[in-house]
Amino acid sequence: MTELSKLITSVEGSATLAITALVKKLKAEGKDVLSFSAGEPDFPTPGFIKSAAIDAINNNFTYYTPNSGSPDLLKAIVAKLEKENGLSYTPQEILVSNGAKQSIYNVLMALCNPCDEVIYQAPYWVSYPEMVKLCQARSVILDAGPESGFKITPERLRSAISEKTKVFLFNSPSNPTGAVYTPEEVQALAEVLVNTDIITVSDEIYEKITFDGTEHYSIAKYPGMKEKTVVINGLSKAYSMTGWRVGYAAGPKAIIDAAANLQSHSTSNACSVSQKASVAALTGPQEEIEAMAHKFEERRNLVMKEISRIPDINCPKPGGAFYIFFDVSKYFGKSFNGTVVKNSADMCTYLLTEVNIGLVPGDAFGNDNCVRMSFACSDENITEGIRRLETGLAKLA
Ligand SMILES: Cc1ncc(COP(=O)(O)O)c(C=O)c1O
Repeated sequence: MTELSKLITSVEGSATLAITALVKKLKAEGKDVLSFSAGEPDFPTPGFIKSAAIDAINNNFTYYTPNSGSPDLLKAIVAKLEKENGLSYTPQEILVSNGAKQSIYNVLMALCNPCDEVIYQAPYWVSYPEMVKLCQARSVILDAGPESGFKITPERLRSAISEKTKVFLFNSPSNPTGAVYTPEEVQALAEVLVNTDIITVSDEIYEKITFDGTEHYSIAKYPGMKEKTVVINGLSKAYSMTGWRVGYAAGPKAIIDAAANLQSHSTSNACSVSQKASVAALTGPQEEIEAMAHKFEERRNLVMKEISRIPDINCPKPGGAFYIFFDVSKYFGKSFNGTVVKNSADMCTYLLTEVNIGLVPGDAFGNDNCVRMSFACSDENITEGIRRLETGLAKLA
């Protein structure tokens, strides 16, 4: 057997996808499994967006577009960033990619040299450490547990900076915790960064899913930060368009040009039809989009109400996104029918096999005391899922 690339074989597979596959397998075997592992909205893509895609096909908008994105989509993104985030970009400062995942990858690859340091917090989105590995850069991870509301302080950030720091990777609202930094907290982090050469890559993919009237504040808006920030956003979460694969990066032209060059030799443009659908999404009526975000807030309230009766877990209230991330470590060391639960992976395997609920181990997000539950599902499933969770945990002794 040929030896495979050391770099590629050092990359972990996605834990989210692994648990989703196990859930599918159990379902195929006829088990009544409720999955709370998916990282995507359960709503259909709004009709006017689908119609725009159908029109695009019928109008033969089915050829390559410019590598960086079609002019009408770049224009729509520029207008969105101006109107919603108060950020002025030219179309040349935008790169449209196959999902925000590719946007982040392109930008990190464009920025990092081997041994450069990338600072980010744990819990983190699963792909960050693996992308940093692929860049041959080094992750500097700041732990932020439930006791700190899953947030880092400016002091923690300052103390992690070295002369090797190249990038600060920031994600608010967060996957997996749902933590949202307030504008003041974002500004306090920006103050640490603004007089450095560090580039902030700000992953704002959950921007539109915030609760309790909390305003999303892009770190690029802080005076002096736009020149050293790449804003990452996309259509997947806000518009329920995960399968369409459209994301974008907005930032200094030199970084965007380098990222675009990489993209031109790997995937080329994002799907032409999806780009037309994205123009419709960004420029069309936003009521349906706001209604989806509102529904997520109702579900957040429901899941918090239901989970509050379970003893010995610590579940901070998420301010955005559609996940709860809660500490189950008080149950570690306990067992049922001879199976000892020692960590988050054991806990998820136990809950899946014993009470048929699919959660994702916190281990995959850099916190082995916690598990993630997505509430992008029906109210009935949330209520029944928490009931099963309660039953499963109560059996552990
Ligand atoms: C924090 C975060 N960033 C980026 C992405 C990538 O989204 P997409 O590639 O679908 O645009 C996700 C998706 O799960 C995410 O949770």
